[in-house]
Amino acid sequence: VSGMSRSKGPLVDVHTHVYLPRYAAELRARTVAPRILNWVNSAGQTEERLLILDGEPSAGRPVGPQYWDRDEKLQFMRKHEINISFVSSANPWLDFLPAARAHSLAKELNNDLEEYCSTSPEAEGFAGLKSLYGFGLLPLVPEIDIPSILQTIDQIKSLDHIRGVIMGTRGLGKGLDDEALEPVWEALQNANLVIFLHPHYGVDSKAFGDKPNGHVLPLALGFPFETTISITRLILAGVLDRYPSLRVMLAHSGGALPQLSSRLASCIDHDPIVAKRLKHDARFYLGQLYYDAVAYGPEELDFVSEIIARSSRYGATGGVYEKQIGTKRLLFGTDHPFFPPLKASQKWQSVEDNLGAIRAARWNGLGDTAQANVMGNNALRLFNLSE
Ligand code: URA
Ligand code: ZN
Repeated sequence: VSGMSRSKGPLVDVHTHVYLPRYAAELRARTVAPRILNWVNSAGQTEERLLILDGEPSAGRPVGPQYWDRDEKLQFMRKHEINISFVSSANPWLDFLPAARAHSLAKELNNDLEEYCSTSPEAEGFAGLKSLYGFGLLPLVPEIDIPSILQTIDQIKSLDHIRGVIMGTRGLGKGLDDEALEPVWEALQNANLVIFLHPHYGVDSKAFGDKPNGHVLPLALGFPFETTISITRLILAGVLDRYPSLRVMLAHSGGALPQLSSRLASCIDHDPIVAKRLKHDARFYLGQLYYDAVAYGPEELDFVSEIIARSSRYGATGGVYEKQIGTKRLLFGTDHPFFPPLKASQKWQSVEDNLGAIRAARWNGLGDTAQANVMGNNALRLFNLSE
């Protein structure tokens, strides 16, 4: 079935991660999370495990070459007939480093990623395009000076295969509604770089209780709730009013934001101070954003797509409802190498679910064109690889 995607256009993965070898080495040298440690398994063999948060259940998770070896990424892409991947560093990026180290490592990792992409094979069937492009890293940590961040944006601008930046939700420690970030938004808008907003911390783990639920609650709920809070704070700070051309892509289809957007609008309307601050109804801003299609179900994709399209009623197209808008702002992703198959099967269930959801969605009656957009054409446009 997945052969279908090729005849209709490219399959492009916008949500796929790497721990570059230089980053993995940094994690191995650490004695507290985030770290990579040696662990003796029940069979007495030593294996490497990744511990990204303190107090993670069962000593984190197994980690291996699928996290850093480019050949594994390319093999995964072939297995799922993915033509092009936009690779990003996985969480927690540089968040835990002192400012000077974050700045120098950002530069080195951006150069590493450019090399990783620029020396990749040509995308099969797409002459002139590489199979790998990337999102760079910014040294977004407390105590960094803004010129160091702007310098890194300049560096990324000069790297032809890096088309955006991946960003966590902490900013300089105070979140993405921090006024200190103003020059960063301006520079990212001017550089036309896509911001991939991705969670790491979840929400207060006390909310999840103490039952043995593994990683389920933090991953299924904590991650998307974190993204939801972060983008909502960005909207409430007026960042999208001041930088209307800023291109922000939300992980996991925007988390709970689409579902809560009318409630958000109503709460704003009922708050005398906030109501005066924003240029538009909150629902408008959802049409300014991009969303990965990592939602695992067709009904969720249709819902998000309709919510994006609805933004047009709040001024995006002068009040005329444009049903295709939603299908132009959702983009296929896999979250590789996370969520590997539990059994060593050929295909990854997480990928098959997300592909199947795109095929099964109704897309406001727009059918094949919408599918081809979400599978890959939207990504080529967003990252300036096609007109
Ligand atoms: N778990 C993570 O830590 N990061 C992801 O991107 C996905 C799952
Ligand atoms: Zn991810």
